[in-house]
Amino acid sequence: MRGACACAVVCALVALCAGAGLEEATRAAAEKQLLALLGLPRRPAPREPRAPAPRLPRAMRLLYDTRAPLPAAANTARSFYHTPTVLDQRFPHQHRFRLFFNITVPEDEVARSADIIFQRTVGATGGQRLLLYDVVRPGRKGKSEPILRLLDSVPLRPGEGTVTADALSAARRWLKEPQHNHGLLVKLVEEDNLSSKVQFPHIRVRRRATDEEDEWSAVQPLLMLYTEDSRARVARESGESRLTRNKRGAQRRGHRPHHRRKEAREICQRRPLFVDFADVGWSDWIVAPHGYDAYYCQGDCPFPLSDHLNGTNHAIVQTLVNSVNPAAVPKACCVPTQLSSISMLYMDEVNNVVLKNYQDMMVVGCGCR
Ligand SMILES: *[C@@H]1O[C@H](CO)[C@@H](O)[C@H](O)[C@H]1NC(C)=O
Ligand SMILES: *[C@@H]1O[C@H](CO)[C@@H](O)[C@H](O)[C@H]1NC(C)=O
Ligand SMILES: *[C@@H]1O[C@H](CO)[C@@H](O)[C@H](O)[C@H]1NC(C)=O
Repeated sequence: MRGACACAVVCALVALCAGAGLEEATRAAAEKQLLALLGLPRRPAPREPRAPAPRLPRAMRLLYDTRAPLPAAANTARSFYHTPTVLDQRFPHQHRFRLFFNITVPEDEVARSADIIFQRTVGATGGQRLLLYDVVRPGRKGKSEPILRLLDSVPLRPGEGTVTADALSAARRWLKEPQHNHGLLVKLVEEDNLSSKVQFPHIRVRRRATDEEDEWSAVQPLLMLYTEDSRARVARESGESRLTRNKRGAQRRGHRPHHRRKEAREICQRRPLFVDFADVGWSDWIVAPHGYDAYYCQGDCPFPLSDHLNGTNHAIVQTLVNSVNPAAVPKACCVPTQLSSISMLYMDEVNNVVLKNYQDMMVVGCGCR
């Protein structure tokens, strides 16, 4: 009974890590469970050997490296670049351009925030303004004007760095009706004369014929879409303590093999467990981290239960009853009482980089429950 307490992620990962000795069916089941936990329908296909390395946008890397919090209620960040189309030729100027982002997200994800990130041009002078429009209906030459809806208006002053504009309502509209995604119109105007064209834009909206691929990819506009998936939404809305969820999950899963019986005589505590994604065979689609410290909880919950074992009143009573009559009830169980999340960067099926926060991936504290 005392081994019956492990969080699901760790169980599945351990099963996969020990993969060599596992039957194929068991391994497949463990992988499937883990993918479901990560909210993925299937394992992203390995990249073709000659396919170009996926691009990891700087904004995405930064988000991962700085562990910056995602916008409220979001647990996923996806990035998209402009998809070039024949329409691009109609916008020959540097101050007016249509951006088309072909965004797709899994059905259970809801958009919570969307930013278009532009890179500043070094050495720009004067004041300019960026106007971002959702193209609700494209114009037809000589017949009708386009219907545009202003999404954001951002002042640009000389300086380096990035500029972000809000495109959430457009992104929501495109997700609902992708057939009416006609892109965004970006206009740059002089701040003191909104009708004049700018000669030297503060930001780059379109590629010049002379731009090298690397050069352009560093400055081109990027759409960062922040979403919340159904698992995160359920967890947030129910406000249910994550620990109760975990504990129930562990109990439902029942007994684990007692192969660590000897160690289990030691007192309940957190023990090291490093999960290496290369061992799991996932290093080809998980961009970062290469692995992480998951830890696990194991050990005895002896009578009388001391304070540092983080026991509940119930665990104290159960331990007491067990000490009187071991046949009546088992001892309390050593389980995670505090867990923390990790972030992962991975490639989705169309080779876009996704950042997701996964809750309850790492044990912070253990206790007897
Ligand atoms: C958008 O992407 C999907 C697949 O991700 C593709 O099937 C579709 O043709 C693309 N649409 C456009 C307009 O590029
Ligand atoms: C704004 O610019 C336009 C065209 O460049 C010019 O005709 C107009 O006189 C300018 N208006 C002001 C107020 O400077
Ligand atoms: C009890 O919980 C605290 C906080 O989560 C943790 O620091 C401590 O290590 C836990 N006790 C054990 C035995 O793990």
